[in-house]
Amino acid sequence: MNRPGPPVASTRAELADLLSPFRQPRSPVVLVPTMGALHAGHAALFRRARKEAGDGSVVASVFVNPLQFAPGEDLDRYPRTFDDDLAMASREGVDVVFAPSVDEMYPDGEPLVTVEPGPLGTVLEGESRPGHFRGVLTVVAKLFGLVRPDVAVFGQKDYQQLVLVTRMSRDLCSGVEVVGAETVREADGLALSSRNRYLAPEARRQAAVLNRALRAAQDRAAYGLPAARWAAMCVLKEVPELDVDYLAIRTPDLAEIDDPHPLGPIPARILMAARIGSTRLIDNMPLTLGGATLPATPVAPSDQ
Ligand code: PAF
Repeated sequence: MNRPGPPVASTRAELADLLSPFRQPRSPVVLVPTMGALHAGHAALFRRARKEAGDGSVVASVFVNPLQFAPGEDLDRYPRTFDDDLAMASREGVDVVFAPSVDEMYPDGEPLVTVEPGPLGTVLEGESRPGHFRGVLTVVAKLFGLVRPDVAVFGQKDYQQLVLVTRMSRDLCSGVEVVGAETVREADGLALSSRNRYLAPEARRQAAVLNRALRAAQDRAAYGLPAARWAAMCVLKEVPELDVDYLAIRTPDLAEIDDPHPLGPIPARILMAARIGSTRLIDNMPLTLGGATLPATPVAPSDQ
């Protein structure tokens, strides 16, 4: 089929053929793994990849990975917009698109050997979505094996995924440098996501509360973890329809924080997931805990 845009490989063999002219010394191959339904957030990932690649090449994969969806999750209704995705890849200077079928990625059906994410795979997103990160890490490991990139770019929007992929790359010596690109937001602060299109107009308006809550936490973080958490919870109460799944403040590596009231400033990350109607949204931001010069007012009533 004659399509505009970058060449598309749908098999491993086609991918190897299309990539072979790009595999040159000092000419990095940069991978951006996606599940398609591309939006401005992905465009920013491609631009970051282009910058990392320099004279090298950018490969985008488009594959809705069944292994990371639990039964009852939105695998079947996950948006598929391949022609628009190709147009965006073309505009953003992607050199090769890899869009395999499920059989091409999993020729023997469900794989017997998978990548185990360890303890970090069972908390936060992993607690709500058992098996999700096993599916993500397994497909990313396969993409690393097939594309053999020097660098891979992931969005900070899926922060736990970014931390786990970084860790996998290091722990399994993949040789791939994992880069995290900043989250792209709408004018009201809502983080761009392929799932935002499911929000009805009123829910879409309410969804901006996530961003306001995270920013409130950032503003109070100098007074310690309980104050930051309390500030976020107060803002979230503005939208009673919101069903908060988790709101957590952790170290940048997602370890638990030992000292909730550090004297000096320490870097941390606030992460949350919430449902509006049937749509589940996640977001996160960096914050700096501690270091306030004035006593906190009001004092946070609890640590929960
Ligand atoms: O973030 C995503 O879109 C997916 O989890 C990824 C990394 C492409 C793996 O399927």
